[in-house]
Amino acid sequence: MNNHSSIDLKAARIKGGVATDQRHDSAHKHVTGQAVYIDDMPEPAGTLHGCLGLSTVAHGTIREIDVSAVRSAPGVVDVLLASDVPGENDISPTGRHDEPVLADGKVQFYGQPIFCVIAETREAARRATRHAKISYTELPAIIDIGELDPVSSKLVTPPLTLKRGDAKAAIADAPRRLKGQMRVGGQEHFYLEGHIAMAIPGEDQDVTIYCSTQHPSEVQHMVGHALGVPSHAVMVEIRRMGGGFGGKETQGNQFAALAAIAAKKHHRAVKIRPDRDDDMIATGKRHDFLIDYEVGFDDEGRILGVDFMFAARCGFSADLSGPVTDRALFHCDNTYFYPNVLARSAPLYTNTVSNTAFRGFGGPQGMVGAERVIEEVAFAVGKDPLEIRKLNFYGPNGDKNGDRNVTPYHQTVEDNIIHRVIAELEESCDYARRRRTIDAFNANSDIIKRGLALTPVKFGISFTATHYNQAGALVHVYTDGSVHLNHGGTEMGQGLNTKVAQVVAEEFQIDLDQVKITATTTGKVPNTSATAASSGTDLNGMAAQNGARQIKDRLIDFAAKKYQVPHDQIVFLPNRVRVGNQEIAFADLIKQAYMARIQLSAAGFYKTPKIHWNRDKGEGRPFYYFAYGASCSEVSIDTLTGEYVVERTDILHETGRSLNRAIDLGQIEGGFIQGMGWLTTEELWWDDKGRLRTHAPSTYKIPLASDRPKIFNVVLADWPEAHEPTIHRSKAVGEPPFPLGMSVLHALSDAVASVANHKICPRLDAPATPERVLMAVERLKAEARRRA
Ligand code: MTE
Ligand code: MOS
Repeated sequence: MNNHSSIDLKAARIKGGVATDQRHDSAHKHVTGQAVYIDDMPEPAGTLHGCLGLSTVAHGTIREIDVSAVRSAPGVVDVLLASDVPGENDISPTGRHDEPVLADGKVQFYGQPIFCVIAETREAARRATRHAKISYTELPAIIDIGELDPVSSKLVTPPLTLKRGDAKAAIADAPRRLKGQMRVGGQEHFYLEGHIAMAIPGEDQDVTIYCSTQHPSEVQHMVGHALGVPSHAVMVEIRRMGGGFGGKETQGNQFAALAAIAAKKHHRAVKIRPDRDDDMIATGKRHDFLIDYEVGFDDEGRILGVDFMFAARCGFSADLSGPVTDRALFHCDNTYFYPNVLARSAPLYTNTVSNTAFRGFGGPQGMVGAERVIEEVAFAVGKDPLEIRKLNFYGPNGDKNGDRNVTPYHQTVEDNIIHRVIAELEESCDYARRRRTIDAFNANSDIIKRGLALTPVKFGISFTATHYNQAGALVHVYTDGSVHLNHGGTEMGQGLNTKVAQVVAEEFQIDLDQVKITATTTGKVPNTSATAASSGTDLNGMAAQNGARQIKDRLIDFAAKKYQVPHDQIVFLPNRVRVGNQEIAFADLIKQAYMARIQLSAAGFYKTPKIHWNRDKGEGRPFYYFAYGASCSEVSIDTLTGEYVVERTDILHETGRSLNRAIDLGQIEGGFIQGMGWLTTEELWWDDKGRLRTHAPSTYKIPLASDRPKIFNVVLADWPEAHEPTIHRSKAVGEPPFPLGMSVLHALSDAVASVANHKICPRLDAPATPERVLMAVERLKAEARRRA
């Protein structure tokens, strides 16, 4: 028998095990500038620098490319064109061959890379790009999706349908029904560290790439294809990203591929770091959606049937639009039971940059649709939206009155804690009393109006592509007892490495500082999935634990034999091991094991159990479990200008038995703020020529420190309740807090509604910029006058 589960919590503990508040391993280095990002690495002598040359039309065929003036510009060494790609000119992550490294013959969006200047300095490369002369035959361009028919328009990837019951019949038979449309904007990732790749050529076909990516294995494959070499020739390494947020799942491929091509061609190191404007123009963003909905309900506000169409602006290629639009549908229920539901996606082709993953991966867009429907129903029956929310929740666990627990994709919700989350938050934030206070305030305030909203979150955890739910780790114990930890996940600020190190420290019962966190590399753990879908800790934590357990089992076998004691009398205590009646320092046992030629290294592996998904049928169990949360926000708006302030936000968010409350708190706060930014001030705007006009912080407004709620209470629901046996019973926390930002949108809507006595649903689209809030106020005032 081994003693994996015999951690005695009453005994003295190691420093930095699981369920302790550890600071992010690099926090001090982030703020002092000592953390090494790719651009901080010493450049090999003779490093060259690349700069992209971008299309200046949204759709067209290229008649002629004249780069002679670029080539003769000072410092220029080469200009790469599509014809310079030695292997396949494709970096489409789905294998659809719809995304060239460099445009070949045709361009499909304004800003598409056509050439890449390679020069002695970054400045020289940037200056030279301007000398290119490219002529096009322009073709009609589709920029916006507003005019497109979601059923008959060109798609980039097959749509999905989810269906349970007969939605159309239920809506037709319902006592009441309504329909509407909502626009939900996209979002720029705005990571502090933009995209970057540095390629260092090796002998034969070899190349090593350092690049800011959430998906080193995919970069390896893409570079391999582009160079026409096997995967074994390409090594990809990444210590950390200065933010990924989904934007570095696929969008780094282009920079890595170009750096590698140039590096192999010139036998020099090549680095490409686009400036912020190019980064924003040439790389994909969160999908914006047009959501059409029709809902049938009873006089109390209980939903009887709902019909959704989720049309997304995908851009010119598939990229991750398939799984992103699928996930929108998987979350169009949020926490609500729909007795009859039809939900369809339309991943629309447009002549814009190919949209990609962004925290929540389409899920938040689906949830925003659900919350709009709830709000509409609430206004229709004249009740507080919170009442309608509660009325339509999935049944509490163990609910015997029927099947109010089945999702539109036929997975049963088994771990539902939303009733408790809402009850506790409603109480702690004093919802009912503040609702009355706000009503009284609004009655006496003509210009400034307040609004309040409490919105729930249920987020499905797992990659919906089942095969991605696997992970590997590599654990070495050195002869001094210190541990080298490597796993397939990548660190983007979320604290994954700290958490996985805590798991390994706990397993060996050694202090956290004995576990060295190392860079992610395809050379140590192969065939990894992107660090995404919030599954980083769930997957890699388990894989690392598995690796550590293999070594522990060998140590136990060794000690049992050597000291002639039964296996169950070998116990790992903090920094030492009890073997029968004696205690041996961990490092001493390791030394003894080494002398006895025991292998002190192991490759760990994990795959998520229970999940399966049949996309054709729209049925299965795509998610291992759900993570829950809720937020309540209060805002005040100025009805003369549309400007607003978030007065207060209260959050209760579930973490399971948190591995590290300090890091989870950061994820919840950051996720909420980023979600709030998406739904309020962050507005992407393309002109009718397809030019992105919001391509710098001067025109694109992310939340500032001063935009955070004036009062901000965040509480972790670290309830070790019934759910699946995840790593130390913790839950994923990377993406689920993002849609907590919805409470701000709905609080704004509530404040707007007050100008018409809460009689008219404001139908506030997102982002609810001050302009949109002002226009909604004016619309409601006019409508109220008309009705009076
Ligand atoms: N937190 C920080 N600080 N930086 C990031 O880039 N990305 C988010 C989230 N939290 C991100 C972040 C996204 S999109 C995901 S999918 C998860 O972290 C990924 O990490 P995890 O699976 O380890 O939670
Ligand atoms: Mo996160 S959008 O799954 O990288």
